[in-house]
Amino acid sequence: MKAFVVDKYKKSGPLRLADMPDPEIGADDVLVRMHAAAINLLDSKVRDGAFKLFLPYRPPFILGHDLAGTVLRTGANVQQFKAGDEVYARPRDGRVGTFAERIAVDASDLALKPASLSMEEAASIPLVGLTAWQALVELGKLKPGQKVFIQAGSGGVGTFAIQLAKHLGATVATTTSAANTELVRSLGADVVIDYKTQDFEQLLSGYDLVLNSQDARTLAKSLNVLKPGGKLISISGPPDIAFARSLGLNPVLRFVMRMLSRGIVKKAKRRGVDYAFLFMRADGRQLAEIAKLIDGGVIRAVVDKVFPFAQTADALAYVETGRAKGKVVVRAL
Ligand SMILES: NC(=O)c1ccc[n+]([C@@H]2O[C@H](COP(=O)([O-])OP(=O)(O)OC[C@H]3O[C@@H](n4cnc5c(N)ncnc54)[C@H](OP(=O)(O)O)[C@@H]3O)[C@@H](O)[C@H]2O)c1
Repeated sequence: MKAFVVDKYKKSGPLRLADMPDPEIGADDVLVRMHAAAINLLDSKVRDGAFKLFLPYRPPFILGHDLAGTVLRTGANVQQFKAGDEVYARPRDGRVGTFAERIAVDASDLALKPASLSMEEAASIPLVGLTAWQALVELGKLKPGQKVFIQAGSGGVGTFAIQLAKHLGATVATTTSAANTELVRSLGADVVIDYKTQDFEQLLSGYDLVLNSQDARTLAKSLNVLKPGGKLISISGPPDIAFARSLGLNPVLRFVMRMLSRGIVKKAKRRGVDYAFLFMRADGRQLAEIAKLIDGGVIRAVVDKVFPFAQTADALAYVETGRAKGKVVVRAL
């Protein structure tokens, strides 16, 4: 089958269109014919080798972390899906590779695709939807009446997280540039800050939760908008010791991660707030919950551009500009 592969870890290295063997399915797997894949900055980071210490893939490997498609075949233990079902997923780490014609996915990572969405829209959801869910629902335990600051509201994670936070009953502040103010307001943002001309640290205070997705300086400033007892959840690092433990990393890597997050953990303690790093994980059950919200009209997909499969590398380059409004999707062959 045709697939886009990484031949060697390299910063901004090329993707190569290759002929790869068809995936084999195990007893718990589902073989999916790809209809659409979304692009994530995780694709760039994996290709660059930024995560190879704890997420090692052996080149040549197929890139791609989001899918919408049709079930072709199921493994012997799979009860909940059958051939012909329309599904969506963020396949688990170690088994990614959605820039391809077909992929074998663990059935517990899959859910039926939201019926109200096209394949392209459905592919745009899993990674960012799960990230927002795990940050706001699981870790953040966001409650009605609480205040949450979601950075980069016009991005892939931000466009989903704003809608989910509003559904949970929170007041939402967000940052974006002036051109995207209308977009984030239409998603439900209550307070919109133009990060190019305004300083969120001066404008926000008493927040219960911050979802940080930007650089170290923004992370440190985010502490100052939280009230005592508030939570700072970062999806852009630094990784912490709890993350290292969850991966079962060796003592050396645990030590490295403890050191990487030592500064922010100390500062957070001093301010009486909590710091946590989140690295999202695959979860088909959560995707089924998300599909209900989408089909119920609570959350909509925000797709900026759809590229043909042959232009997968261009789609990745577009996302790497940092200017995407919502998600960028590739239509499969
Ligand atoms: N740990 C995890 O599990 C996890 C999961 C998902 C994503 N992430 C990480 O989270 C980050 C965001 O991901 P994403 O997919 O949402 O990114 P994205 O879609 O590429 O974000 C693009 C958006 O960010 C906005 N933006 C750029 N610089 C900004 C700034 N300084 N302040 C506010 N907004 C800004 C841009 O708006 P303008 O054009 O208006 O500037 C654009 O709309 C990435 O680093 C990604 O790797 C981590």
